[in-house]
Amino acid sequence: MKNEYEIKVWDPLVRSFHWILVGAFAVAWLTEDEWMDLHAYAGYVIASLLLFRLLWGVFGTRYARFSDFVKSPASVISYLQDLRHLRAKRTIGHNPAGGAMIVALLVTLLITTFTGLLAYGATGAGPMAGVLFPQSSYGSEFFEEVHEFFANFTLFLVVIHLAGVTFGSLLHKENLVRSMITGTKQG
Ligand code: HEM
Ligand code: HEM
Repeated sequence: MKNEYEIKVWDPLVRSFHWILVGAFAVAWLTEDEWMDLHAYAGYVIASLLLFRLLWGVFGTRYARFSDFVKSPASVISYLQDLRHLRAKRTIGHNPAGGAMIVALLVTLLITTFTGLLAYGATGAGPMAGVLFPQSSYGSEFFEEVHEFFANFTLFLVVIHLAGVTFGSLLHKENLVRSMITGTKQG
């Protein structure tokens, strides 16, 4: 129910960014084996989303800005200690640990897409084929290994991300997933 205490937190672009990212990330995982064209397209979508999010983190709306949710390591640690004792403060935007997770996710996603482009380029396909790999086909195994490592590492972070969202929702008796859909929270 909408009431006067609802605060607008996540603007439509942040919400679209998030759910398209979730979809494209799932497509990338489901296609890596057999559908390399689709896999690369999902990767291009993710690369574009990341580019947008980096800009939006500087020029975007209040709670979308890095300055709103990127905190010092000391405040992240003290937040996690409070969390351990179930007394972590509720925040309207991302909490300090959530902010750190977002930075980690954005960085590992950037590395994953970039090494994917390199692995693809080394096989003679994609934009890197003409730029970094002008002579058709190089060995792509090395880049594939690095790419695989970071893809797995990103998935590992996503699991912790989901645990954090679940725990935060339970602790403050609010539905954070719903907020990422509707864009609002209780004031
Ligand atoms: C965040 C985005 C991405 C995710 C999560 C992802 C995930 C994966 C995974 C899990 C593999 C399997 C690794 C293995 O078993 O060897 C893989 C392989 C690969 N990916 Fe990606 N990828 C992403 C983006 C990209 C992009 C942007 C490109 C290039 C345009 C790309 C190109 C490749 C290539 C060439 C392989 C090797 C396929 C093979 O072993 O034949 N990926 N990716
Ligand atoms: C169905 C699975 C997922 C759910 C339910 C979910 C839920 C959420 C929620 C509730 C938030 C806001 C957290 C807060 O209130 O502080 C959030 C933020 C975020 N999530 Fe997810 N998430 C999912 C999957 C993913 C995946 C797969 C990725 C990346 C590969 C991801 C990356 C992010 C990022 C980057 C943010 C920050 C949003 C922003 O400010 O731009 N999420 N997620």
